[in-house]
Amino acid sequence: MRINEIQELQTAHYDLLLSADPDKSLIEEYVKRGLCFEAIFSETIVGILVLLPTRPETLEIVNIAVSEKLQKKGFGEKLIQFALAHAKNNRYKTVEIGTGSTSFGQLYLYQKCGFRMTNIDRDFFLRHYEKEIIENKLVLKDMVRLSIDV
Ligand code: COA
Repeated sequence: MRINEIQELQTAHYDLLLSADPDKSLIEEYVKRGLCFEAIFSETIVGILVLLPTRPETLEIVNIAVSEKLQKKGFGEKLIQFALAHAKNNRYKTVEIGTGSTSFGQLYLYQKCGFRMTNIDRDFFLRHYEKEIIENKLVLKDMVRLSIDV
């Protein structure tokens, strides 16, 4: 798998972005301000990563996704390792990520990569998303924020 910076987003990129975040207007807003990367495997786009500088010395992974058919093969972990190396090489001190409290697989993966929980934004998904989100048979309400020092 190789990772490239994306110059112009294509439909395949948007499909991946939307699999991680159903809010298209929010996506449009952060892809303009952030750095977008694609993961290529067998000459196909298999993953996406969007990094956004938020506070001084802090970079946030605002979107990460791998094509459904190719999940759980290590591509997501490779994208996270790439984000951490990019942050370190560019003198950021902290990398942050937010995920749903019901996103158990994602919470496992981020903690496996060394992220620690910092805080919980209660009712984030009720406030920001019009449609109810059900995940792992639970209504998604709270956002868990995690970070790692690089
Ligand atoms: N459920 C259960 N376990 C999961 C998981 C999930 N949804 N996602 C990852 N894992 C586990 C893998 O089984 C693997 O475990 P192991 O190390 O014990 O083998 C480990 O985490 C590493 O996973 P990896 O294969 O590197 O992740 P991936 O390529 O499947 O990508 C995501 C992870 C989250 C990017 C991918 O599942 C995805 O695109 N999901 C939809 C979009 C999304 O939710 N994005 C994140 C929004 S916060």
